[in-house]
Amino acid sequence: AAIPKYVTPLPVPPVMPALGPLGGPADRYEIGVRRFRQQILPPGHPPTMVFGYGSSRHPETFSSPGWTVEARAGRPVEVRWVNELVGRDGGFLPHPLPVDQTLHWANPGGGTAGRDSRPHFTTTPGPYHGPVPIVTHLHGGRNPADSDGYPEAWYLPDARNLPAGYAKYGTKYADYAALAEDRDGRPWGPGAAVFRYPNDQRAATLWYHDHVLGMTRLNVYAGLAGFYLLRGGPGDLPTGVLPGPGAGEDGGGPYEIPIVVQDRSFAPDGSLHYPLSRRDFDRFPGPYIPHSDVPPIWQPEFFGTAMMVNGRTWPYLDVRPRRFRFRFLNGCNARTLDLKIVTSPTARRPVPAALPFWQIGADAGFLPAPQRLGHLLLAPAERADVIVDFTGIPAGTALYLVNEGPDGPFRGDPHARPADPATTGQVLKFMVLPKTGRDTSVPPDRLTLPDLPRLGTESLTRRVALLESTSTAIPGGGPAAALLGLVEKGGAERPGEGGPHGGMPHAVTPEGGEVGRALMWSDPITENPVVGATEVWEIHNFTMDAHPIHVHEVPFYVLDRRPFSGGSHGPAPGETGYKDTVIAYPNQVTRIKALFERPGLYVWHCHILEHEDNEMMRPYRIEG
Ligand code: C2O
Ligand code: CU
Repeated sequence: AAIPKYVTPLPVPPVMPALGPLGGPADRYEIGVRRFRQQILPPGHPPTMVFGYGSSRHPETFSSPGWTVEARAGRPVEVRWVNELVGRDGGFLPHPLPVDQTLHWANPGGGTAGRDSRPHFTTTPGPYHGPVPIVTHLHGGRNPADSDGYPEAWYLPDARNLPAGYAKYGTKYADYAALAEDRDGRPWGPGAAVFRYPNDQRAATLWYHDHVLGMTRLNVYAGLAGFYLLRGGPGDLPTGVLPGPGAGEDGGGPYEIPIVVQDRSFAPDGSLHYPLSRRDFDRFPGPYIPHSDVPPIWQPEFFGTAMMVNGRTWPYLDVRPRRFRFRFLNGCNARTLDLKIVTSPTARRPVPAALPFWQIGADAGFLPAPQRLGHLLLAPAERADVIVDFTGIPAGTALYLVNEGPDGPFRGDPHARPADPATTGQVLKFMVLPKTGRDTSVPPDRLTLPDLPRLGTESLTRRVALLESTSTAIPGGGPAAALLGLVEKGGAERPGEGGPHGGMPHAVTPEGGEVGRALMWSDPITENPVVGATEVWEIHNFTMDAHPIHVHEVPFYVLDRRPFSGGSHGPAPGETGYKDTVIAYPNQVTRIKALFERPGLYVWHCHILEHEDNEMMRPYRIEG
């Protein structure tokens, strides 16, 4: 049966409670990960088993998305992230979703952590029912490496029944744990890690989410994501200029609302559905190459059948005839969204916009100037900080946030195979209520945004590649995993080394005699900027799909894009500020520029979660 739309109010995630008085040198939190049921579907439908974050000392705060961490520029935040995925009896809880053990992944059952000889993948396919590893990453944070949530710094819960021979944590956990303890002198673990975020960066919409090697797609899909709003400092506007997060003087509010859009599929019993077999996936069109025929098997991309906003399917939001600030986050595993505000949700697409978005910020803070946009294109992990002005709209009017993005892989044309207007083409309903009080925020066309310092001349240009590999594990193969690598002057096409599953990362030869050489997660580091260096990275996308490329640790900006055959063009209006995730279009070179400032081991990767889980992620090191 169809899920009824617009019967549940949009929840606004409350502020995550900090520990104790905030008088000290940092705001401290203890944030756990638990498993619980949440009413994602409308009332009357079964609740859904999810993973979610919450303040460990306040059970009522556990929710998906997690409550919002409010941080101040210049004031550190310290979080003790606790893996509480244990049942009442103290035994570990298994993952509610199918875990493919044939990927290069955390694989706690593979043996002792941290040894190079340790198998990361299981050659005998079949499901994993063991304890769940986690590690949290603050996306967009300029984090010290030991607090960045490195995919191999994962850890299991402190369960009483961990199977003998299981690794309790990954390699980097052990390395970093030796360096860190919290203010009370508590070291890491068991089942916990203490991360410190300096917040020495510009005000921005950050988010936290799970990042464990080879199963990020499942942990995030199960619910592990939340907002982290950094305010204040020279990169922010004074309070009152924009619609605010608190109750307004008119008794209304909040007028600033973070909105995370995620696609999900539900089984009739209300549980989250994630495809696990070839047959299962075949209900959705698209390229598909598993590493084995035995489920559960990795899917190249997940596209759900329902839209979930702040943890509810198709909710509604009561608004007033005034300005609102929405902080949009695309929290989907793989789906690129193209959002628009319209009057009729089911009209044939594309439809004209009823109200514009005034985009004022992107991933890493404010744009240089507000941009008036009819639609908002957001790939996974991208954020858009926007003002929507409902002033003058009569009470009783209904408006709809719709999605005109594709129901499938994004290849650069958002309107190719547009999302179904009856389901994934709809997102959220705005109900306009009567006016209350006065709107004292500055109209977006009169806003002056904070100064945006640009970077100096680069000392180095790196040429990196996005590639695809074909699997030989299944007869009749085809495109499978996407990979990262390097661009080299070559000419002849060269086969890459065999992947861990018999996959063959192969080189592609576009015009110009350039070849891409695929590299695996376990290959030696190739990107190693030195502290203080400004670099340009040229991202050559040799694949058929657009990939949202995320570089940890550094805000960057988009210089330009150049089709393999054709002239270059500058960034889109919504990309004119600092970002941390950029869409690399197929058959184009996307150039970004960044300043590398904090030494340590980080990662860069595609933010299609299925891709990052299957080798479209590389370590990189900022050399101190
Ligand atoms: Cu949003 Cu490497 O992550
Ligand atoms: Cu990708």
